[in-house]
Amino acid sequence: MLVFVPPHPLIKHWISVLRNEQTPCPIFRNAMAELGRLLIYEASRDWLPTVAGEIQSPMAIASVEFVDPREPVAIVPILRAGLSLAEHASSILPATKTYHLGVSRDEETLLPTVYLNKLPDKFPAGSRVFVVDPMLATGGTIVAALDLLKERGIDNKQMKVISAVAAPPALQKLSEKFPGLHVYTGIIDPTVNEKGFIIPGLGDAGDRSYG
Ligand code: PRP
Repeated sequence: MLVFVPPHPLIKHWISVLRNEQTPCPIFRNAMAELGRLLIYEASRDWLPTVAGEIQSPMAIASVEFVDPREPVAIVPILRAGLSLAEHASSILPATKTYHLGVSRDEETLLPTVYLNKLPDKFPAGSRVFVVDPMLATGGTIVAALDLLKERGIDNKQMKVISAVAAPPALQKLSEKFPGLHVYTGIIDPTVNEKGFIIPGLGDAGDRSYG
């Protein structure tokens, strides 16, 4: 598995806004959306097939390249907090489909429960799937999500995980279960506490996004 932490000043900036406990809900959501835009931009580099052609500009015929609209690209935001991180995904990626997945983590056991599953029974052949969840803490949630994708025909090379903050327990689980997976995160934090919160982290990303 490869974990990418793109070294970009804007990524550092938005992570800092998210970390600040004084950041109010709407600004938090906006920061999360901007971070998502940058991470998806980085994750789509070298991953989206293009098709070449020629087009008439106002001045001359030019050689051009478009993202190939025949190649299926999907976004899977994990509710709730994944919605804000995925906010700009469909505007920066041409022709995507969004499949929502609602997963909540039990506060005592920290085990995930899937309460909403809008995934297709089978993804189209050759699909590329961005799975978007801001917090990779104990890893239970993201593993449950990726298991559902694998059951629907997506292999480890066909999915990329986009997260704001990742912690070692989640990265460890992902690397054991999904070799070859690529994870893009704004930052890697050192620990997860006994309540399952990333330290220093951002707090509860769902509550901070939606109150
Ligand atoms: C949080 C977070 C992740 C998950 C990470 O979601 O947004 O989805 O916990 O935890 P894990 O790696 O230990 O499984 P939460 O269940 O609080 O739902 P929410 O986004 O609706 O607040």
